[in-house]
Amino acid sequence: MTEWWRHAVIYQIYPRSFGDGDGDGMGDLAGITARMQYLADLGIDALWLSPVFASPQVDHGYDISDYRDIDPLFGTLEDMDELIATAHDYGIRVTLDFVPNHTSDQHQWFTAAVASGRGSPERARYLFRDGRGPNGDEPPNNWKSVFGGPSWTRVDEPDGSPGQWYYHLFAPEQPDLNWRNPEVVAEFASVLRFWLDRGADGFRIDVSDALIKDDAWPDTATGEPIIPKGEDSPVHEVYREFRRVMDAYPGDRMAVIETGAEDEIVSLFIRPDEMHLAFNFKFVHAGFDGPKLRAAIDSSLAANAAVGAPTTWVTDNHDTPRSVSRLGQNATLAGAYVPGTMASGIFQEVDLELGTRRARALALVLLALPGAAYIYNGQELGLPNVDDLPDEVLQDPIWERSGRTVRGRDGCRIPVPWTTGANLGFSRARAKPWLPIPREWASLSVAAQHASADSMLTLYREALRVRRASTALGRGTLRWVSAPGEADDLLVLDMVGEGSTVRVVVNLSGAAIDLPEGELLLASQPVSAGQLPAIAAAWVALPPAPSIADRLISAVGDLTEAIPIVPTLRPGG
Ligand code: GLC
Repeated sequence: MTEWWRHAVIYQIYPRSFGDGDGDGMGDLAGITARMQYLADLGIDALWLSPVFASPQVDHGYDISDYRDIDPLFGTLEDMDELIATAHDYGIRVTLDFVPNHTSDQHQWFTAAVASGRGSPERARYLFRDGRGPNGDEPPNNWKSVFGGPSWTRVDEPDGSPGQWYYHLFAPEQPDLNWRNPEVVAEFASVLRFWLDRGADGFRIDVSDALIKDDAWPDTATGEPIIPKGEDSPVHEVYREFRRVMDAYPGDRMAVIETGAEDEIVSLFIRPDEMHLAFNFKFVHAGFDGPKLRAAIDSSLAANAAVGAPTTWVTDNHDTPRSVSRLGQNATLAGAYVPGTMASGIFQEVDLELGTRRARALALVLLALPGAAYIYNGQELGLPNVDDLPDEVLQDPIWERSGRTVRGRDGCRIPVPWTTGANLGFSRARAKPWLPIPREWASLSVAAQHASADSMLTLYREALRVRRASTALGRGTLRWVSAPGEADDLLVLDMVGEGSTVRVVVNLSGAAIDLPEGELLLASQPVSAGQLPAIAAAWVALPPAPSIADRLISAVGDLTEAIPIVPTLRPGG
């Protein structure tokens, strides 16, 4: 099958939290490999692993010190080979996180840059500038870091004197690379080849649109950085080079970009000679709001269609409070992390029953829409966000960087519950999971949900099974049935595939509605007497449209009804 990624279901694994193979309380590669059967049974097409490379773990692996090695926390290169081979045996592809914007400050390039001094080729790989003020002791400009505080840090020169400043969009331990330097492009192209040679099927590219900064470094009114992303930005040449690297490999390798930019900018990055997919964060922000969902769907489909790229559908990831809690708060994305901004993930008065009901309905939207869908580990179990973690267990660097005002993203990164036993099967009995798992999650564990007909897990498994067998769901063309603005609390669309059409009915209202005629394929709540209950969605296979011949026969039939003196013409009669 070609271009599998156009309608793939890709499952994001947060490796710290999926499964602990060696019993130290931290998830690892062996723990993922050991659970591959679960992933195969779920029915996904590919995995995306958040970073597992050598890293001081200041930003949980998004600070890489060696791009060609695995962090001992997660295992070894051989463990990765085994994971990829096992996944491939099950027909599951493996995509890896690629972090080009910044390295760790422990990366050999960065320590060499600091040691080599002003004007050296080593410094030219990063963004070093002289400070302002008489002694250069003020940062080169007023840009703020995404994680809080200034985005410049000063180094000492090799002779011990106070020296230049380097730029970091995120933490000081994450110095930004200079993507105008061809040596940087060549090095990262070689890193891509390293993993492609080892069998990786593709990449998720971290903060992909931020590689190029305005090199006049002007102060800005709000301290927001200026990051050129438009048509003329050299960033697109970087992605053209990455595409050439990937295209040299067989097997449809794929890259998905992370960007919070507007649709028109996003689509530039997924032109035919750049990357393949882009996360659609608009959909995350739309919450459970009919007009917002419709607008998010339409605008991303239109922008991507203009460049021939499919769209992705995402509700959850490792940076965003889990949707069950978000939707249960009657809000869209209040207090969540959005690329470019960091805010608290604390929720007040979450109605988990409502949130779960909405998340079930949204799952049937996510998996019906045309394009690729992403599922974040635990989403298929309906895990809520954990917002009452005690201060002393918080791990996200945002917590300290913000002066303990922003609690950060730990609440959506809690380890996955597998069984009802010790450590809920995530880790061995005596281990201490790196973040505490709520005891009450026993009832949300895979073991508890496995055999239950109305569990979230069963809904996801069924939805993926039905989607896989369908030419319409995920693969077909979207046609709206409900008119825009017709009713804010009803969305009806047809997914038209080869030889079949599935109607997707989303009832956002508080009252039951009639379902159309056809075969009910799946519903997020029990349907009785042809009625879809409040806050629910359903997939209905429409009866095949009658052929011209059928229509002629029935027209003649109607005639003969009217003129019963020609009984021999009655169809079948
Ligand atoms: C991306 C990642 C996030 C990380 C940041 C810095 O937004 O998704 O987890 O903190 O990049 O690398």
